Amino acid sequence: MKKSIILLLLMSCFACSSPSGNIESHVESHIDSNSQAQTEPTLYQKMGEKPALDNIIDHLINIIGQDDVVFAHFAQSNVTRFQDQLTVFLCHLADGPCQYKGDSMEDIHQGMYINKNEFNHFVELFIEAMDAADISYPIQNLLLAQLAPLRKTIINM
Ligand code: HEM
Repeated sequence: MKKSIILLLLMSCFACSSPSGNIESHVESHIDSNSQAQTEPTLYQKMGEKPALDNIIDHLINIIGQDDVVFAHFAQSNVTRFQDQLTVFLCHLADGPCQYKGDSMEDIHQGMYINKNEFNHFVELFIEAMDAADISYPIQNLLLAQLAPLRKTIINM
């Protein structure tokens, strides 16, 4: 009696751990996680790709042009170059189909002596630009989270 119970248990255990069952479920879960990785949209896609990014940057440039705190830094700038480079940089940062090959944020901003106040203000202007471009708050937050680590490389005072 005891023996047959043990045998039954062993058999059911053998059945539940049969190699074919295990491999199938393993393969299935592997395919699942792979296809999930392939279908999960990038931040660039979630925000609305190039039209959305262009919209944000157009607004940002207009807003900077009327701003008393940071405009002085941009007074001598080549707006077209800034616009182009910022577009590629943010597209790259949001995992879009772009490769930013320009200088590092540290090298670009080093000689500008940007202080904390100006940096924070620039981020506020960026938020205004995202609002004006109708970017949803969750996507705004994801973008801001990508910009946050740049803070220490851009502030130089
Ligand atoms: C997260 C924040 C920032 C990002 C992602 C960023 C990004 C960039 C990029 C990609 C460029 C173009 C570089 C090039 O021409 O090769 C640039 C240039 C520049 N940035 Fe920033 N920047 C940030 C913050 C700031 C702040 C806070 C200021 C000033 C208060 C500033 C002032 C400038 C100026 C004046 C230029 C040069 C434009 C030119 O003459 O071409 N940036 N920035």
